[in-house]
Amino acid sequence: MTTPHHATDFLHDLRLRSAAEGGVFWMEDDLLAVFEPNAARQVSGANWHRLVMPDRLVDLIRRRHSPQMRWTRVRGAWLAQLHKLTTAEHNADLITRMERIIDARLGDDVDLVMLAQEVAVQSMLPVALSGLTPREARHISEDLNQKLLRLIARRPGAGPRHHLRFAAVQIRAGIVVRRVLRERAAGRRPRELDLADPIVDLLPELGMDRALDVVTAVLTAIGGPPGAAAASVLYELARNPEWARRLSVELRDVDPAGFRAAPTKAAPVTHRFVKEVLRMWSPPLLLMRRSRFSFDLGTTRLEKDQGYLLSPHMIHRDPRCWQQADTFDPDRFLPGAPHGPVDKGHYVPFGWAPKNCVGADIGMIQLMALCYLMCTRYRLTVPNAESITMAYRFAPVPQEFRGHLAAERSVV
Ligand code: HEM
Repeated sequence: MTTPHHATDFLHDLRLRSAAEGGVFWMEDDLLAVFEPNAARQVSGANWHRLVMPDRLVDLIRRRHSPQMRWTRVRGAWLAQLHKLTTAEHNADLITRMERIIDARLGDDVDLVMLAQEVAVQSMLPVALSGLTPREARHISEDLNQKLLRLIARRPGAGPRHHLRFAAVQIRAGIVVRRVLRERAAGRRPRELDLADPIVDLLPELGMDRALDVVTAVLTAIGGPPGAAAASVLYELARNPEWARRLSVELRDVDPAGFRAAPTKAAPVTHRFVKEVLRMWSPPLLLMRRSRFSFDLGTTRLEKDQGYLLSPHMIHRDPRCWQQADTFDPDRFLPGAPHGPVDKGHYVPFGWAPKNCVGADIGMIQLMALCYLMCTRYRLTVPNAESITMAYRFAPVPQEFRGHLAAERSVV
């Protein structure tokens, strides 16, 4: 077990208010914090009920309705594709892609936050959008990278030149996505097993603008949280040598084929470790939503078009939900542990139905693969790991987190 971590003043104040006001309180006139687990589940379920995509711009201008597209149809298409993308064979490919990125950094003194981001995002990119030319991949990566820097930088860039550059990069990435969808639909580009592909079949109903929004939603989803979670995995591995040893013992003996097929079953200690990392440091810290309907939340009422905030992090650190909420201890996920989750609504790293994360399984596989690589292939050295603190940006981000990676030995 380790000592508690520091929170920024903002989050600290938010926690105090949440504790004093039962988890549901007005932060501003039209912004409601919903940090109580049942209320969070209720508001999500009610707000996204029968969600349909907004009309296309062209139809809005012509004052007509676009073909109706239920959001569950888009999610269903993604989930079916992700099911095919999480077989042993595809998991092995994901691990290989991650390994290649790390191999290129061996021996250097590296910024581990940026390395974790690069490993997570670049290895996941083919799951979202594959078959790109190197130039197209560069445009997409540049867009993801600039969005990420905006999210984690202490002082994000400002000024008209910065905004213009930001917009230009974003537009170029949009052009790439449109071209890929158009060429796949016209048979001029092969179809791929990725999350963009089912959108090609929905193009006649979606139209290009809405299709671009859908693909951009996936790119945005892989651009922030997976890398932040990966950095937190490295952070806890570096700060907890005893846990790093327990993972190494498990992962060095694991049957590689079994691990590739079902990592959570093959490596339960590692699974607990990753679950605890996601409890302590779940990204993003705050989810800002707008209510589509008016609804009653017991103690207060949310009107249509008011904002509300959800936060897995606030629930995961709430002492009413978790004993020793600020202590890192993966064994709390052992069956019957006294400090474990009392209710499944208390552990929500992937959000709430019906808008919960579609990439939860593949995201978990990726984080377990990172542990696997770190404990069997590489040796991570982080000077003064115990003094490294977390800063709260869009997600928890370890500060001045630098280290050195060396090759350990060949396992497979
Ligand atoms: C550890 C990694 C990840 C974490 C912690 C995470 C977390 C989240 C969270 C908290 C949400 C919002 C849920 C809500 O609004 O209730 C979300 C949404 C989403 N995530 Fe993830 N995510 C991860 C990885 C991924 C990956 C790898 C993908 C794609 C391959 C993905 C795709 C999505 C999509 C598409 C949504 C939007 C779903 C919708 O609007 O219906 N995520 N994620």
